[in-house]
Amino acid sequence: MNNFNFYSPTYFAFGKDAENQVGALVRRFDGSNVLLHYGGGSVVRSGLLERVKASLDREGIEYVSLGGVKPNPRSGLVYDGIDLARREGVNFVLALGGGSTIDSAKAIAAGAVYDGDFWDFYAGKPIEKALPVGTVLTIAAAGSEGSPDSVITNERGMYKRGASGDAIRPRFSVLNPALTQTLPPYQTACGITDILAHLYERYLTNTKEVEVTDRLIEALMLTMIHEGPRVIENPDNYEARANIMWAGMMAHNNACGVGRSQDWNSHNIEHELSALYDCAHGAGLAVTMPAVFRYVMHHDVMRFAQVAVRVWGCPMDFFHPEATALAGIEALRRFITDLGMPRNFYELGAHEADIPKLVDMLCNGDGRPGFITGFVTLNAEDCANIYHMMV
Ligand code: NZQ
Ligand code: ZN
Repeated sequence: MNNFNFYSPTYFAFGKDAENQVGALVRRFDGSNVLLHYGGGSVVRSGLLERVKASLDREGIEYVSLGGVKPNPRSGLVYDGIDLARREGVNFVLALGGGSTIDSAKAIAAGAVYDGDFWDFYAGKPIEKALPVGTVLTIAAAGSEGSPDSVITNERGMYKRGASGDAIRPRFSVLNPALTQTLPPYQTACGITDILAHLYERYLTNTKEVEVTDRLIEALMLTMIHEGPRVIENPDNYEARANIMWAGMMAHNNACGVGRSQDWNSHNIEHELSALYDCAHGAGLAVTMPAVFRYVMHHDVMRFAQVAVRVWGCPMDFFHPEATALAGIEALRRFITDLGMPRNFYELGAHEADIPKLVDMLCNGDGRPGFITGFVTLNAEDCANIYHMMV
């Protein structure tokens, strides 16, 4: 196991009606003037925005609102949010929504206290200072409610890039599984796929003997396999929603990723798809993961065979472990497409003719060195081959 430092101080309020604690939580973390940030309207329709405002009013906390975050959040609204936060003297940023809203809130929080262009952080500068961030989560997916990460699309070039730093880890996150019951089935399935992807990106490691994190990841994968179909069948199944919501947080706050190298090639390859076609991140991952895994599996066939046996219940073929590995990848593909996820470029709305552009954005965009690296290093030709496998 590699050396590591792990600091994950987010306070979680979990369960029915937990959003009514928001005012007290903002107060607890020293907020008195809040920027309320949300998306395209689901929090208005569900009444969540009004409930949160009432909770802030009860504590005498002031607020200004900025809605309009789009899925795959854009740099433009982040600049608007930074201006607003500075103008209004905001001292706390509260996100109501999913990963897109939370990531936009994190970018505003970091940018508001930084003299340069906030994009510097998405070009590699670590985030060391930010306004405190809180979240009320409405979709189990990205794990941003417990992560030190934020992913934003730069409209000048449509690059989708991540930034990181403990300063943007939420001070608190409110997780009420009932809030996810209004999700359309497609978004629920996207979330389940993203959570599985966060687990795979950590499972695919070059570090030896990391049994404790292997086993944690396997437990969370098994939970998703059990609960995913139940929640698609019955969107009002609170208990299934609750298990998925907490698994989604644990999949990505890095408790299962410490002490081991991680992959993230599938995420990097997918991010160019959601940047270019504005598809849902989880849907892009559904098409990306099986192709990447088939392409790289010979790097460590036994790792793929292990997850196939332990998680997907495939029989171990000791004479042909690659057959077991492939059976596991196929089981994953079948599971996510059965949930309603796309199978290929066509179903995702992507175009084969764009592959050279995708590869260029992925490998060279925004100062990248001509390749990406994770479980294996992939050059431009490898990335083109992988995109072609998705067609
Ligand atoms: O905008 P509204 O109206 O709220 O609608 C949203 C949006 O259209 C809707 N929605 C959310 N909760 C709802 C709901 N509709 C009905 N009822 C509810 N309860 O769902 C749509 C998708 O929302 P979004 O926030 O985009 O989803 P998600 O949480 O999947 O976030 C995706 C973004 O997170 C990034 C992705 O790249 C993508 O940009 N990621 C962030 C990570 C991080 N910060 O750690 C890691 C991830 O790997 C990921 O890359
Ligand atoms: Zn993801």
